[in-house]
Amino acid sequence: MFDAHDFSVPEEWAKRAHADNDKYLEMYQHSINDPEGFWGEHGKRVDWIKPYSQVKDVSYDAKDLHIKWFHDGTLNVSANCLDRHLEKRGDQVAIIWEGDEPTDDKSVTYRELHAEVCKFANVMKSRGIKKGDRVTIYMPMIVEAAVAMLACARIGAVHSVVFGGFSPDALAGRIQDCESNAVITADEGVRGAKKIPLKANTDKALESCPDCTTCFVIKRTGGDIGWVEGRDLWYHEEMAKASADCPPEEMSAEDPLFILYTSGSTGKPKGVLHTSGGYLVYASMTHQYVFDYHDGDIYWCTADVGWITGHSYILYGPLANGATTLMFEGVPNYPDSSRFWQVCDKHQVNIFYTAPTAIRALMREGNGPVEKTSRKSLRLLGTVGEPINPEAWMWYHEVVGDTRCPIVDTWWQTETGGILITPLPGATKLKPGSATRPFFGVKPMMVDHDGKELDGACEGNLCIADSWPGQMRSVYGDHERFIQTYFSTYPGRYFTGDGAKRDADGYYWITGRVDDVLNVSGHRMGTAEVESALVHHDAVSEAAVVGYPHDIKGQGIYVYVTLTKGFEPSDDLRKELVQWVRKEIGPIASPDLLQWAPGLPKTRSGKIMRRILRKIAENDYANLGDTSTLADPSVVDDLIENRMNR
Ligand code: WTA
Repeated sequence: MFDAHDFSVPEEWAKRAHADNDKYLEMYQHSINDPEGFWGEHGKRVDWIKPYSQVKDVSYDAKDLHIKWFHDGTLNVSANCLDRHLEKRGDQVAIIWEGDEPTDDKSVTYRELHAEVCKFANVMKSRGIKKGDRVTIYMPMIVEAAVAMLACARIGAVHSVVFGGFSPDALAGRIQDCESNAVITADEGVRGAKKIPLKANTDKALESCPDCTTCFVIKRTGGDIGWVEGRDLWYHEEMAKASADCPPEEMSAEDPLFILYTSGSTGKPKGVLHTSGGYLVYASMTHQYVFDYHDGDIYWCTADVGWITGHSYILYGPLANGATTLMFEGVPNYPDSSRFWQVCDKHQVNIFYTAPTAIRALMREGNGPVEKTSRKSLRLLGTVGEPINPEAWMWYHEVVGDTRCPIVDTWWQTETGGILITPLPGATKLKPGSATRPFFGVKPMMVDHDGKELDGACEGNLCIADSWPGQMRSVYGDHERFIQTYFSTYPGRYFTGDGAKRDADGYYWITGRVDDVLNVSGHRMGTAEVESALVHHDAVSEAAVVGYPHDIKGQGIYVYVTLTKGFEPSDDLRKELVQWVRKEIGPIASPDLLQWAPGLPKTRSGKIMRRILRKIAENDYANLGDTSTLADPSVVDDLIENRMNR
């Protein structure tokens, strides 16, 4: 639709860029034809304690599935993010922290961050935490969250960051699943002037986690909190006693770096396991090329460290590259919807990376809040997390970026560790709404339902044919589930769970999930998780959850509930069930629409026909398709009549 536009960058811009189109093509060809040679060379971008001699050892064959990169090399990730910068840029700012209140900010240099990380690493050691132990981090967006992650990496402990918006139950489930014996939290978080009771949530969670015997607490607000003597320790008190000398632990490239829980189409969230060497190489290389990062750039990714985007592109990628990375505690519309752009001006941000849902929400506020700021420092804009509609892309380009800044629409997943499909600014001709072309080493493959590979321009399911260094290695504690989830639908290939179109120029247009995973405001949510939360409630005998198009969130959560005998539908019960889901999982799982369903459409074998429920939720009930195989076709009429999305 916008093909006639020319989104190319000014000549000066292009000259400085890390790649032009020819260089991209040449490097891409090299990476595909000779992955060993390509990654053997680029793996050197991080510092190894013992250099690797093996580059790639991968089999996607279910019988012998393994993924190893650089596996005889050793390194330490925190040393790569800190120590190696001290000589050249010890006094450069590593993290700019912007608090929830516009008057609240601070800067931390590489030297200061290094000292903090070493101290906290020693604090953890003094509590007996060691290499291989799992440590859960449940924190607001404060510098100490970065310190905690890097300190784990320093001693070889495996961190599992749980987003601060998750409920005590969700937190407890994650602590239990990876058997963490320590958790790091804060008294309270602050977002948009609202307090989040992190310590109280942790206390509740730990009631069902008897093996978690240490809880470090950072004082953020000074609010009243409970205290368990012997288990709870104030961060600042322990830090005051700690030494700043802590040699980094030598880790094998394939030692785990972190676990991050994410939703799938079935069951409870999976612990996505990432390892050290390949992950860091990939995060740092993508950060440099995709954001055209140059020394001295001020870089801001608005994600939360509780998500993969925060791991790879607030912390590990930027710090490995010696960048100045901005961490924002607040929300886009507090104190008002000009906040993002005010922060850009205040800290002279050059590279800005956010989610389409934020862009759409801000676009709705009009151009005023944007135009009252300068934004002259901005050079590049990025998006991640969900498809961006061309209208929002154009607004981002024209209003936020003054038509001057290229936009990188980056497609990737928790599982992929780093960006897989993206434009390279200065090299790739942009098309609004398309994530464009694969990054180096990434071999996308389009397949139909039967797994037949599709050629040329086509629409189908997106697989990746071969491994890249940042790929997840396993589901924590359940390797079989890893194989089942990603390598069994299309044997021998990594299946992304996403549908896509490929156009005649070879550009990819991601159309969204093809499994039962929702993408709500860029957050992944499994329909099965919401359903299982609902059926925990006494009033609910059965529940089915589907997505429907939502102007701001991308997808909204639509819930069908069949009540247990003896319960009557009411507005109060509806509210109670919405609250219930928030309590069980967290506010991000709040149902948007809840419909009472006396019956759900099922096949004769009892399988719920979600296709039909999706159509009704989308208000597209004229196209229900074949309903003749239903056990009781009449339930559909009732559902249509009482639909909520009119
Ligand atoms: C979706 C976030 C379209 C996709 C990094 C994927 C996108 C899921 C894009 C992963 C994009 C992410 N265009 N869709 N640029 N980026 N997605 O694990 O459906 O939270 O499978 O990782 O988000 O979400 P996750």
